[in-house]
Amino acid sequence: MENRKADHIALAYESQINSIQNDSRFDYEPLIRSHADAKIPETVFLGKKLRAPIWISSMTGGTQLAHKINKNLARAAHEFGLGMGLGSCRCLLDSNSCLADFDMRPIVGNDLPLYANIGISQIEKAFLQHDFSPVHQIVNKLKTDGLIIHINPLQEAFQPEGDMLSIAPIDLLNEFIPTANYPIIVKEVGQGIGPQSLQELSKMNIQAIDFAAFGGTNFSKLELLRNTEQAHETYLNMAHVGHSAIDMLHTTNRIFEQTPPTNDLQLIISGGIPHFLDGYYAIQKSKFKAVYGQGSALLWYAKQDYTSLQQYLKHQIRGLELAFGFLRIRKS
Ligand SMILES: Cc1cc2nc3c(=O)[nH]c(=O)nc-3n(C[C@H](O)[C@H](O)[C@H](O)COP(=O)(O)O)c2cc1C
Repeated sequence: MENRKADHIALAYESQINSIQNDSRFDYEPLIRSHADAKIPETVFLGKKLRAPIWISSMTGGTQLAHKINKNLARAAHEFGLGMGLGSCRCLLDSNSCLADFDMRPIVGNDLPLYANIGISQIEKAFLQHDFSPVHQIVNKLKTDGLIIHINPLQEAFQPEGDMLSIAPIDLLNEFIPTANYPIIVKEVGQGIGPQSLQELSKMNIQAIDFAAFGGTNFSKLELLRNTEQAHETYLNMAHVGHSAIDMLHTTNRIFEQTPPTNDLQLIISGGIPHFLDGYYAIQKSKFKAVYGQGSALLWYAKQDYTSLQQYLKHQIRGLELAFGFLRIRKS
């Protein structure tokens, strides 16, 4: 007690906060709930129960480090009750040599959503070969609940070895989706998705949109860093075009209210969500069932060791509990 009081006196000046630093997104309500009431409400997402509204964004596979990262992420999904998207499973299209990198169902367990991932370019290749079955087999091999399709024309254009599409993604999706007997999620990879494309997605038989919005990891920029100096200089401004998660949320709220989606379309609000407060704000602002997704923030710890990831998530989830207990969205 004496030490604690001495700390208070010593730290009082260090703890001053300027009113400019006030996070005006929230009202703080200290009277309404107790700590015991500060709980995360049950979230049923994509038909399965999550213990926290967090989605592990699609990342990696195909290297030794990726195997370790995926195992750490899958373990965290299981321990904390989170949904998980695998990174691109492209290498499984023609061989099973990388299967172990992606075979995370035994770790995640059957009760949580786990989705495979493939790029729209691979869907185009399969379409041109009149055979979608190698794509469907990925879902069977990995026993995933469904498939995430990433649509990334800018990344492909800036990637030195990128695949150029000869058919528009909307036409490819319209060909592919009716052949899949499992749920489909559509995402970008860090640029976000504009209003016209979102409107088209709302008419499709898909289960969720994963924003992968602008504001965090940006694969167009990443590929330009791998490209020639001249390409980097020429195209960099274009990597800065896109839609933030909050922009996309306003757009989906508006579009989906005007033209309700054909089914119970759910949202993974992701791309530049570094902190539970941003995630909490986003899911509270959504008029549709939503969780928030994180990629690079989780990767940072997952590539170190499981304990680092576990500690990070413990604190993020405790923060979320406190947010649900004591913070409300401020009416503007
Ligand atoms: C190392 C790394 C690898 C990724 N690989 C994929 C991928 O294979 N497929 C995919 O759809 N997205 C991939 N992404 C994009 C993420 O799913 C996510 O959309 C993006 O990182 C934005 O989220 P963030 O800002 O929280 O990192 C990758 C991201 C990272 C950091």
